[in-house]
Amino acid sequence: MLGLGMIGRHHARLLQASPRVTFAGAVDPAGDRHGVVHDPALVVPTVRELLDRGPLDLAVVAVPTEEHLGAVRELVAAGVSVLVEKPLAATGGEASAIIDAVREAGVHAAVGHVERFNPALIELRRRVGDGQLGDVFLIATERVGPFPDRIRDVGVVKDLATHDLDLVSWLGGAPVERVAAETQHRMGREHEDLVLVTGRLAEGVTFNVNVDWVSPTKVRRTRILGERGMLVADTLTADLTFYANGQVTSDWAASQQLRGVSEGDMTRYALERREPLLVELEHFFDLVAGHPGAQAVTLEEGRQAVRTAEAVLESAASGQTVVLDGA
Ligand SMILES: NC(=O)c1ccc[n+]([C@@H]2O[C@H](COP(=O)([O-])OP(=O)(O)OC[C@H]3O[C@@H](n4cnc5c(N)ncnc54)[C@H](O)[C@@H]3O)[C@@H](O)[C@H]2O)c1
Repeated sequence: MLGLGMIGRHHARLLQASPRVTFAGAVDPAGDRHGVVHDPALVVPTVRELLDRGPLDLAVVAVPTEEHLGAVRELVAAGVSVLVEKPLAATGGEASAIIDAVREAGVHAAVGHVERFNPALIELRRRVGDGQLGDVFLIATERVGPFPDRIRDVGVVKDLATHDLDLVSWLGGAPVERVAAETQHRMGREHEDLVLVTGRLAEGVTFNVNVDWVSPTKVRRTRILGERGMLVADTLTADLTFYANGQVTSDWAASQQLRGVSEGDMTRYALERREPLLVELEHFFDLVAGHPGAQAVTLEEGRQAVRTAEAVLESAASGQTVVLDGA
């Protein structure tokens, strides 16, 4: 385990509790500030010290984003498979360097886009894939709340919106084709703290991403709108709700078009709620063990989210719509 900060402490908790792995230790130069590692002798300040204690099969990298590349290089060179927290890297170039290092080492690797393991989003994607909404025309995400108050090496686009830029592509089943964005700097930091993105996927679905660190309450909502209604996932509560379009009683075929959509039934689905971070780790264990059903997020997908984030920042700086390479 590398990094025992905000997210690393949760990985450490789950890794120590898992019957599928033996916890070899944790690396953090600042020590175990949250007191999560049961045996203090297992906390060391450098990767070298942990590797010197014996070979490792896998590691979770939860150090600040700008340090992902250095940490991954050191681990994979020692034959260790890695789950790298999202965003994969601070730049597309560093993400490519991570991909090269992993390929050269021949180890397994995945990116921690944990939202893909949220039960509400998994069920949302399944229902959309089964055609519940008919044709989909909009995916809209909202991820706003107060500043987490820790030192950040990147702005809200790379830190938080990478979740959404990955999600819209995963949910819509197509890469992001183009983006137009606006940002705000309200907290006097070097990086932006609010972003609004309007974009389009290669299949023609439009999307909207609304993310900030300056709202007084936390909202985590993803909604997909289609010709038969709307599905809304709340990833804080892991709830999924379907709002059906109302039935049109008249036989006149054009009536729906003339009157627009009306309100129909609302259904809230009962979902099995498992901790997304645990499900993500289990898929990573499966990947390392060579199980064919492992649903790990690939490094290429992680790089795509970083590149889309770069396009968002470029659009916000230039005031122009940015078309992504290869979309
Ligand atoms: N998946 C998610 O929902 C999620 C949530 C939060 C953070 N993250 C990601 O996880 C990473 C860490 O974020 P955080 O919020 O936990 O940060 P944090 O600042 O709370 O913790 C980072 C920890 O890493 C330690 N560290 C720094 N350099 C190190 C090194 N070379 N080796 C080992 N430890 C080192 C620091 O001392 C600190 O304890 C970031 O990439 C972030 O984007 C993901």
